Amino acid sequence: MAVRRSYFDVPPSAARLTGSLRDIGYDFQTAVADLVDNSISAGGHRIGVELVFEPNNSYVLIWDDGRGMGPTELLEALRFGSRRDYRRNELGRFGLGLKTGSFSQCRRLTVVTRKAPKQQTFHVRTLDLDYIERDDSWSVLVDEQSEAIEHAKRILRDGPGTVVVWENLDRVLPDRYAESGWGRRRLSSLATKTGEHLAMVFHRFLAGTHGLDPVTISVNNLNADTSEPGVQLKLEAWDPFATAEDHTQAIPVEIFEVETDEGASDIRFSGYVLPPRDKFSSPERFERLSGPLKWNRQQGLYIYRANRLVQYGGWNGLRGIDEHTKLARAAVDFDTELDEAFQINVAKMSVVLPATLKNMLERPIHDLCVRADAAYRQSASSAGGRRPSSKSTSADGVALREVGVALKAVMLESTDLKGFRAALGKLKERHPDLARSLDL
Ligand SMILES: Nc1ncnc2c1ncn2[C@@H]1O[C@H](COP(=O)(O)OP(=O)(O)O)[C@@H](O)[C@H]1O
Ligand SMILES: [Mg+2]
Repeated sequence: MAVRRSYFDVPPSAARLTGSLRDIGYDFQTAVADLVDNSISAGGHRIGVELVFEPNNSYVLIWDDGRGMGPTELLEALRFGSRRDYRRNELGRFGLGLKTGSFSQCRRLTVVTRKAPKQQTFHVRTLDLDYIERDDSWSVLVDEQSEAIEHAKRILRDGPGTVVVWENLDRVLPDRYAESGWGRRRLSSLATKTGEHLAMVFHRFLAGTHGLDPVTISVNNLNADTSEPGVQLKLEAWDPFATAEDHTQAIPVEIFEVETDEGASDIRFSGYVLPPRDKFSSPERFERLSGPLKWNRQQGLYIYRANRLVQYGGWNGLRGIDEHTKLARAAVDFDTELDEAFQINVAKMSVVLPATLKNMLERPIHDLCVRADAAYRQSASSAGGRRPSSKSTSADGVALREVGVALKAVMLESTDLKGFRAALGKLKERHPDLARSLDL
């Protein structure tokens, strides 16, 4: 027999909650990536990001040519904690990303969407933090107007799709910079960073590998120094494993089983040793493969949730970052069934390896690093072997730089970072030339 309970209904304060949800760990590019997830889930094939600089009126658009939404669906989409069911391996999960991602960067979020293939019928709904805070209510505004919203409608002129509009970019361009050259340069550099980030996170979707429908993503390259609008750049997939390079070594895939409440699910581990600089097809390719965080910090695990990258580099506590293993990278693939086991967070920026998996991965990671170390040393010694006496100074220079890199790598792991920094400072003071050669 059910026990009757008495209770009070205490809904949260809209003003307080929306404010605190702004700081759950997104930065500009990860917030954009969360919206691109939605665009892909909605069947978008062409996706774009546009940053528009207007003195005191800058805005950002994230658009797609996906299914679009009807009015009821749109309203639900704007609910914090949208109510809906997910199919296996859908990219969404918490019903929050659209709102939390947007408000991490702006104060006013508008969704402009068109579902009808034939008529130009748009639905326009806005969540505005200024209204929410003033009325302390979860109000969704209807048919707001602005230049940015007009721009969004123009994008949807030819067919269905959705445009997310960010206005009042208080976090991106604080007031005092909203009209300055600094503001324009800031938007321009964010466009570049966002392009790099999306090219990495969605590289499998961009390349159409792993049985995925290929998508294109373009980011406008806002011209930093003039008032020209800039051009749309189509992103080229950034494949962390350089699989197109002749000298990349692919280690055979291993599959591990992790238990869940409903049964068991497979995890795939695919290790790669990337070629050292002298074995790359060109120095430019080597530079590009260095990645946003550069070679040392991009070594390690690339964790994919339903083919979307959620971690890019690092060893999750299984070992340290080491110059000698900088050529080791490995893909770890898991399904959305394992979301809880991996503790995926709302911003899709961090996962935790389940303890049982960590144990299982120790051996294959060790083996991978042994091979990567061998590839690194071989290339270092072949560089040494070539060393003619007349070039000895430059070869010594390379060796010294490597010592510098090794020192910094150890420093990153050291618990007494302050002490280490102080020692380096002294070294620079007493032996400035040596410090320069060490590239410290
Ligand atoms: N670009 C889009 N096209 C179509 N529907 C969308 C789009 N963006 C969001 N939605 C709808 O809004 C809902 C809420 O999105 P979001 O807050 O990101 O949560 P989640 O993606 O976890 O479901 C989605 O589940 C989807 O139904
Ligand atoms: Mg989402």
